[in-house]
Amino acid sequence: MGRYSVPLAPQLANFSMITVGQQVLDVGCGPGALTAELVRQLGPDAVSAVDPSEPFVAAAQQRHPGVRVQRAAAEHLPFGDQAFDAALAQLVVHFMTDPVAGLCEMARVTRKNGVIAACVWDHAGGQGPLSVFWEAALELDRDAEDESQLAGAREGHLAQLFRAAGLREVEEGVLSVDVEHPSFEEWWEPFTLGVGPAGSYATGLDAKRQAQLRELCRELLPAAPFVLTARAWATRGHV
Ligand SMILES: C[S@@+](CC[C@H](N)C(=O)[O-])C[C@H]1O[C@@H](n2cnc3c(N)ncnc32)[C@H](O)[C@@H]1O
Repeated sequence: MGRYSVPLAPQLANFSMITVGQQVLDVGCGPGALTAELVRQLGPDAVSAVDPSEPFVAAAQQRHPGVRVQRAAAEHLPFGDQAFDAALAQLVVHFMTDPVAGLCEMARVTRKNGVIAACVWDHAGGQGPLSVFWEAALELDRDAEDESQLAGAREGHLAQLFRAAGLREVEEGVLSVDVEHPSFEEWWEPFTLGVGPAGSYATGLDAKRQAQLRELCRELLPAAPFVLTARAWATRGHV
């Protein structure tokens, strides 16, 4: 999904209104798409990052040697109170075991009046980067569990979670990225790696059903090369 999260990162960074001189935490950094943008805007000394997955921590640390990267989940952050000016989570809230607890922890480690910002793809509104995949999966299997019910994936839900976490002056926005795919195979190949709910679903099918899913996706998508627009719900609030 890096092909979508890389162009999304400057938009979330700008939406969070961070400024040079601030200390910022990237929660659920993965291999570092948002981390890279934060380093570009603020410099490596201003950026800390956490992720619960050891391979992602290693990848982010390798890409950004000057950034402090630690293994941790949002729900249990290894920092003292008010250690940061802002805490951001790009495409992470829907994976948190307890999203409100995760946002409360992000608020705890952020100073008073500091900013918490997050975004989640619009999985429920059919405008996420995986929408064609799930449309095809559901057409072939009505019991397929898509990502529309996940936290923050429907309009207004992230803001509800922010308010439940006690954040103030909660504001919502919509982020949108256009990604060009040179061929259908380039679009399909990441699903075969088994990453994320869509990848797990695709690789959990037998060869015949996976081929049916692939061919239905091909039918639903425009002829290559094609551009897909993906939308994310964004929310920011103050501690
Ligand atoms: C879709 S990736 C997003 C990675 C990165 N933020 C980006 O935009 O490319 C989701 C990330 O959330 C992490 N994650 C899952 N559960 C988490 C939790 N409870 N707290 C923090 N991060 C979590 C995963 O390990 C993964 O790196």
